[in-house]
Amino acid sequence: MHPTTDVHFGHEQIRMDLLRERAFNLRWAAVEPGVIPLTAADPDFPCAPEIAEAIAKYARDRYLSYAPAEGLRSFREAMAAYYQERKGVHCSAAYTIACDSAAFGIYAVCKAFLNAGDEAIVFNPVDFLFKHSVELVGARTQLFDVPIDPQQTIDWQPLEDLVNNRTKLICLCNPLNPTGKVFTAEELHELAIIAERHNLIILSDEIWSDVVFTPNSYVSMASLPEAADRTIVVTGFSKSYGLAGLRAGAIIAPNETLYESIMEASGQRSTVHGCNVLAQVAATAALQHAQYWLEQFIDHLQHMRDLTVDALNAIPGIHCHVPQGCYVAFANVQETGFTAEEIHSRWLNEARVAVVPGLPRWFGANASGHIRISFATSEQVIQEAFHRIKNLSQQ
Ligand SMILES: Cc1ncc(COP(=O)(O)O)c(C=O)c1O
Repeated sequence: MHPTTDVHFGHEQIRMDLLRERAFNLRWAAVEPGVIPLTAADPDFPCAPEIAEAIAKYARDRYLSYAPAEGLRSFREAMAAYYQERKGVHCSAAYTIACDSAAFGIYAVCKAFLNAGDEAIVFNPVDFLFKHSVELVGARTQLFDVPIDPQQTIDWQPLEDLVNNRTKLICLCNPLNPTGKVFTAEELHELAIIAERHNLIILSDEIWSDVVFTPNSYVSMASLPEAADRTIVVTGFSKSYGLAGLRAGAIIAPNETLYESIMEASGQRSTVHGCNVLAQVAATAALQHAQYWLEQFIDHLQHMRDLTVDALNAIPGIHCHVPQGCYVAFANVQETGFTAEEIHSRWLNEARVAVVPGLPRWFGANASGHIRISFATSEQVIQEAFHRIKNLSQQ
């Protein structure tokens, strides 16, 4: 641990030359020169040096042999310890699986517990990966509308009304991308009771669980005794540590039965899928040696969040709630008189700033009329982006 090491998340830390070469998925390497991409949620800052050093050290030994199908013991132990200590979950390394991204973790859980014709409850709006995975395995999604305002308490009755004898799975995304909601212990308790009443499995996507802003605090569904034996945690390293390109993730099952079903469904035992060793080594170093970096990153993000939300709310016709977690702002643009797609095109073509329009294919139908903006960058980039947007909206 490096509790006293100061990390400066200043603009000079950002290597634009490398981002333009390496950052794809709607970001610097995928947009025209001169465009600022506040798009996919992926930080502009380099990862913690301890992570790079761990990868280099492992690679220097020049043995890059197969890992166990379920992942390296060191990774599984680090992940389970992290979850026990930081999230209060009584989990075991024995039921923890290394997988090649949170995206694959979601898919593997859907494959394990959904057959053709089954149904899974998916929030609306939420990241597209849930609907995508449910449908990929031949099941159907039942959409549960959630408020855009993260402060609004959830009424779960409409969710329970969706449950029928084909319903098998509830897909929970906590914190919720794109609204930035962090669910309270009471809300999770009520959802757990519904899951118990109907014997449903809960897929709890916790990839954003480190990115929670004060005064909110994170509660993992798996830490609630009433939900623990039916909750499968999926998490990853793309958001907290900036390791998206490594494709590292983890699945934490509560018991042997659920663990076995996931391992069988994952394709990892046949080596068709699996998490590469360098990604596991990097993720282990992140959990064990980069907490000082993460804490300061979150402090920086909280400041960027406030700048972004204030700048959005200063634009006539735009309304943005303050996200409690996630480094994205989800703004309602309906009163501008433009659709989200029109704002996206106008800002891209005239201000040279790219955002994600709230299209059903990204977040579900309830995202319409909204745009999503990632603020995991420097103050300078955010100021420049909003300077350009402000000039445009005054024209
Ligand atoms: C809620 C959620 N789950 C999963 C993912 C995918 O993460 P990974 O890069 O580990 O596949 C994302 C990425 O945006 C996300 O927002």
